[in-house]
Amino acid sequence: MATNIALGIDIGGSGIKGALVDLHAGDFASERLRIETPQKSTPANVAAVVGEIVANFADQLGDGPIGLTIPAIVQHGVTVSAANIDPAWVNCPAEKLFCEALGRDVVLVNDADAAGFAEVQFGAAKGHPGLVIITTLGTGIGSAIVHRGVLIPNSELGHLEIDGFDAEKRAAASVRAREGLSWGEYVPRLQRYYETVEFLFSPDLLVVGGGVSKKADKFLPHLKLRTPIVPAQLQNRAGIIGAAVLAVQQ
Ligand code: BGC
Repeated sequence: MATNIALGIDIGGSGIKGALVDLHAGDFASERLRIETPQKSTPANVAAVVGEIVANFADQLGDGPIGLTIPAIVQHGVTVSAANIDPAWVNCPAEKLFCEALGRDVVLVNDADAAGFAEVQFGAAKGHPGLVIITTLGTGIGSAIVHRGVLIPNSELGHLEIDGFDAEKRAAASVRAREGLSWGEYVPRLQRYYETVEFLFSPDLLVVGGGVSKKADKFLPHLKLRTPIVPAQLQNRAGIIGAAVLAVQQ
């Protein structure tokens, strides 16, 4: 079996998506399969869907590695939090559960860590030699800190407290939609968010991912920062690609 292929699976609040990844090219090596996240997104229910996705790619994957992402802090294989998924994931030995359910080894990582790592490997921050902070603006705000190509996991910068608010409750893309904010109203919230991240970490590069990054021209040119800030490039492939790469590296 080709050693440059791994399976990446992205577990999200609404869909569970998987594809084979060509680890050298940093791109999909198959179609993407998406299955709705079960309404009750408990560990057992999610593991069953992940099993379906693995079975779908089993022939081409052979005994190749599998990387999974989840919107949760993942510390030594244990999900310590749960965002947009069932609270049963909190303090769940999730990596072990997936290994047992699938009968094979898997590597489980935070969703933003996977997406951010992929951007440094193959996307907007490819080969960057310094400190890169990738944020994903979606339902919440996810973050990945990568220093000289090394991921520092579980940074959770969406939960910085800024002006008395949990940052993602003010600046996530979903908040713009929910509160019906114009770009002119949303930009100051992003400004406050990114200037705080910049002040605390002095990154060399900021990368903005999540669906809203497709509309980067609406907000990036209006942010006043000393750090270069660029849109992500891998779009909704980032999580799957990053999970696959991290599965091989860990
Ligand atoms: C969670 C993170 C996650 C991010 C994006 C946040 O609410 O705390 O773990 O990476 O949402 O899904």
